Amino acid sequence: MTRRRPYNRAVIYLDHAATTPLRPEALEAMLPLLTETYGNPSSPHAAGRRARAALDDAHDRVAQALGVQSREVVFTSGGTESNNLALKGAAWAGRSRGQRIVTSAVEHHAVRHALAHLEKFGFEIVEVPVDATGLVDPDAVEAALTDRTILVSVMLANNEVGTIQPIAQIAERVRRRRGVLLHVDAVQAPGAVPLDLQGLGADLVAFSGHKFEGPKGSGLLFLRQGTHILAQQHGGTQERHRRAGTENVAGAVGLAVALDLALREQPATAARLAGLRGRLEAAVGAIAGVALTGHPLDRLPGLLSLLVSGVDGADGVAALDLEGIAVSVGSACTTGSLEPSHVLTAMGYPAESARGALRVSLGRTTTDDEVDRAAEVIPVTLARLGAAARAVGTIGAVA
Ligand SMILES: Cc1ncc(COP(=O)(O)O)c(C=O)c1O
Repeated sequence: MTRRRPYNRAVIYLDHAATTPLRPEALEAMLPLLTETYGNPSSPHAAGRRARAALDDAHDRVAQALGVQSREVVFTSGGTESNNLALKGAAWAGRSRGQRIVTSAVEHHAVRHALAHLEKFGFEIVEVPVDATGLVDPDAVEAALTDRTILVSVMLANNEVGTIQPIAQIAERVRRRRGVLLHVDAVQAPGAVPLDLQGLGADLVAFSGHKFEGPKGSGLLFLRQGTHILAQQHGGTQERHRRAGTENVAGAVGLAVALDLALREQPATAARLAGLRGRLEAAVGAIAGVALTGHPLDRLPGLLSLLVSGVDGADGVAALDLEGIAVSVGSACTTGSLEPSHVLTAMGYPAESARGALRVSLGRTTTDDEVDRAAEVIPVTLARLGAAARAVGTIGAVA
């Protein structure tokens, strides 16, 4: 049997907004559940009871980390499912009260496409615009609420430009209308920004394990007690009837360990990442034709989003890949699509310049040496691509 070469360790991985490596503590906690404690948590025998106990512990650990109750935590398969369950579940449960749903123009596709699906069934989806930094105005959200509104969905931190939304202020305005629920896609937040679910004031909050060094295929939805949603998959009675299907016990345990650690370490991680990003930003921002996008202050500490004039983001990713640096075009989830980023166009950038979007995202495991090397290589590579584009006269204006 030929031995597969492991993922090239020399690669400088700066795409943590797309996914993160599994942290050793999470792997260690997961291994016994994949090997010895493999029972089905619904089985009454000892093996099943052991798996049930591990799952209950994972609920408790997540609840404690987030400062909520265990029964308010629903384990899912990831951020996409958590968002879909929240939006479709709340929309169908509230349909008799109204069919209007208010959202922002910069949501992830897991929210945008779920809402577009609901639109086909008669729900009215209203998008609140953002300013040039990607910020939603809480007053604009309030102005969009009518007596027919049942749900508001605004993300906590944007995955393309990193802008952090004023959720607490939005929640305050949503609460002025009785019966309107607030859903928040917080997938990019754990470990990066402080998370206080009580202070946030949302009724539903989506998370994804693999964005904070937990396992892929694990996620969770916080569902404030008393919030009624309709389950979106039917079968068994798992997760208190809110998410049928045999539970991914190892995934839930790995997520719980990773979330707990990410939240505890958040202040130190965020401070360190902001420093590293500052170094990279100083080096990259100095090149002609490069503009930084997103909010200058209220943004994810490890995320640097750029527009490179005249250069296609995909070419930038390919050129840096050859140099051993992994970054992303705008958003990893839109890679391969020819559509310019809806986030940048909502922020007012012309579609043509939005094609030059690059996202560099640092993570807890990013080292100083990696950032030093990236600060040397990225400017040189982008300057070379920019010069080549100018030479062939394809340069476009950066807004
Ligand atoms: C803001 C945001 N929401 C939702 C998702 C989807 O999460 P998952 O990959 O776990 O389905 C992502 C993933 O990129 C994201 O960044």
